[in-house]
Amino acid sequence: MDMQKIGLLGFGTMGAGIAQLIAQSGRDVLVLETAQERIDAGMRFLSEFLATGVARGKLTEEDSNTIRSRVHGVLKVEELADAQLVIEAVTENPDAKKSLFAKVSSIVSADVPILTNTSALSVTDLATSVDNRGRFAGLHFFNPAPLMKIIEVVKALETDDKTIDTLVAFVESLGKEPVVVKDRPGFLVNSLLMPYLNDVIQAYDEDLATAEDIDIAIRLGLGHKLGPLELLDLIGLDVHNHATMSAYQATLDPKFAPPPLLRQMVAAGHLGNKNGKGFRTDGRKTA
Ligand SMILES: NC(=O)c1ccc[n+]([C@@H]2O[C@H](COP(=O)([O-])OP(=O)(O)OC[C@H]3O[C@@H](n4cnc5c(N)ncnc54)[C@H](O)[C@@H]3O)[C@@H](O)[C@H]2O)c1
Repeated sequence: MDMQKIGLLGFGTMGAGIAQLIAQSGRDVLVLETAQERIDAGMRFLSEFLATGVARGKLTEEDSNTIRSRVHGVLKVEELADAQLVIEAVTENPDAKKSLFAKVSSIVSADVPILTNTSALSVTDLATSVDNRGRFAGLHFFNPAPLMKIIEVVKALETDDKTIDTLVAFVESLGKEPVVVKDRPGFLVNSLLMPYLNDVIQAYDEDLATAEDIDIAIRLGLGHKLGPLELLDLIGLDVHNHATMSAYQATLDPKFAPPPLLRQMVAAGHLGNKNGKGFRTDGRKTA
């Protein structure tokens, strides 16, 4: 594949993981950020992740240095002019994303794919900010991007088949499994996960079983690595509440409606592992 220079927008949690993944595939990555401190923070995060890989024997110190040398932070969008593919991973704010896409679209060649890593926004709506909407699609990475095997390739209403073919080949060249999916709230994985987690919360609230037993049953009965309540604590109850509420507002489908117990827990500041209060962290029902 002949795309050697990739533009990346945002060097936060996802940007750092995506930069590493792309650099590991032998390409150069130009990462746009808003301030030098953000570039330094992204490089630190990437270096720490690589150091863990070295400590675990997954890669050598030399590999780690080579990967780092392929990642270049930039502060001006004009520096992305000769990128052959651009991936956006900036803060989840539709207006900010659209204004950035409009700038990128006016700078790169008309056939360069422009992609968003949004989790919850409409890819079809974001596409309205670029020229030649056929080149715009979603590329939804999972966190941590270097480790997770799947990448969703999201086909918006006006995405060309050619763009999808390019992205499937690109994802495969990263050593990941592409899954092509329509532009719907939650795409594929999260659109199936959110109603499932909502059902589990409801079952727990109805005293179907204890929190611990629900997790044991799903681990052993379905072979999942994590039980659903442990997973909710890991994701963050506020994060799940926001995601499922957004999907509910976009579709008015009751399967996405946040269950009352979830809303109460979030209102009371029970956010899961991040603050040590969740379904499994204190072992008690909170409402
Ligand atoms: N965190 C996850 O688990 C996850 C998973 C899949 C997708 N996503 C999506 O990825 C995107 C980024 O999420 P994140 O968790 O990495 O957020 P984050 O807050 O860790 O990072 C966002 C970065 O974007 C930068 N930024 C903001 N505006 C910018 C601009 N105009 N130009 C350049 N950089 C800019 C910020 O300085 C920050 O470093 C969001 O759309 C989110 O929905 C997140």
